[in-house]
Amino acid sequence: MFRAARGQTLASSSTHSTSAAAGSGRKVEHVAIIMDGNGRWATNRGWPRLVGHRKGAERVKEIVRCAPDLGIKWLTVYAFSTENWKRSTEEVLGLMAIFARYIEREADRLAAESVRMRFIGDRSRLDPKLQKLMAGIEARTAVYNRLNFTIAINYGGRDEIVRATRDIARAVAEGLLSPDQISDALISQHLDTADLPDPDLVIRTSGETRTSNFLPWQTAYAEYEFTETLWPDFTPEELGRIVSRFGARERRFGGVVGA
Ligand code: IPE
Ligand code: IPE
Ligand code: MG
Repeated sequence: MFRAARGQTLASSSTHSTSAAAGSGRKVEHVAIIMDGNGRWATNRGWPRLVGHRKGAERVKEIVRCAPDLGIKWLTVYAFSTENWKRSTEEVLGLMAIFARYIEREADRLAAESVRMRFIGDRSRLDPKLQKLMAGIEARTAVYNRLNFTIAINYGGRDEIVRATRDIARAVAEGLLSPDQISDALISQHLDTADLPDPDLVIRTSGETRTSNFLPWQTAYAEYEFTETLWPDFTPEELGRIVSRFGARERRFGGVVGA
C-alpha cells in the first residue's frame, strides 16, 4: 500500500509528459530521432556523402507525413550537432543548403498538414539567411498543432545546458532570482525545449548505440531503440513497428508498478 502510493506520487510529481505516459497500454506522444547513417549509405554506393544527406531529407518528409497516423504528437529530429562543424566545409555548407531548401520547399505542405515547426539549438552561428527562414516558418506554422515537429540544428545538449545556466546565473546576479528557486522545472524552462514535453522514445538509426549529446536532460527517463537501418533506408513501416513495441514497455519512473 505504502509503496504503491509512493510510486504514484513519484510518477505524478515528475515533470513533463513522463508522468502522463506512466501506466500500462501507453501511447508514444513524443518521438525523438537521431538520424544517423546518411554518409555510410552514400559511401556504400560509391556516391558523395551529400547524396546521402539529400536522401535523408526525403526520408524526413515521409516520416513527418506518417507520424500523426501513428499517434505521434511531437517529433524531434537531430539534424546537425554542435560537433558536426568538425566535418569538411563542403559537407557543412551542403547540409546548411539542404536545411534551407527543406524549409523553402516544405513550408506550404507543413502548413497544409497543420504541422507546427520549431527549431532547437544555437542559431547564432548559422547563416543569417537560414536563421530568417527558420524564424519565418516557425511564425507561419505557430497556429497549428496536429504534429509538433522540431529540428535540432547546431544543437548540443551540453551547449544547451551551458546557455541555460548562464541565463539563470544572470538572473541570480541581477537579483531577479534566488539560488533556492532553481528547480528541475526552472532549468527545463530555460532550455531550448521549454515548450516541448520530454521525449518518450528516442530512436537512433545506423547501428551506433550512443546518444551523441542529444537531449541529455530531457531524456532522463526516455526509452531507447537502436536500429541497424541507415537513416535513408528508414521507413514509416519500421517506425510503426518501433512505436508498437513501445506500447509493451513498462515504464516505472523509479516507482513500483502493480505493487
Ligand atoms: C547523419 O548522418 C547526419 C548528420 C550527422 C548530419 P552521418 O553524416 O553522420 O552519416 P554517417 O554516420 O557518416 O554514416
Ligand atoms: C549524431 O550523429 C548527430 C546527428 C545525427 C545530427 P553523428 O554521426 O554526428 O554522431 P557520432 O559522431 O557518430 O557520435
Ligand atoms: Mg554519423
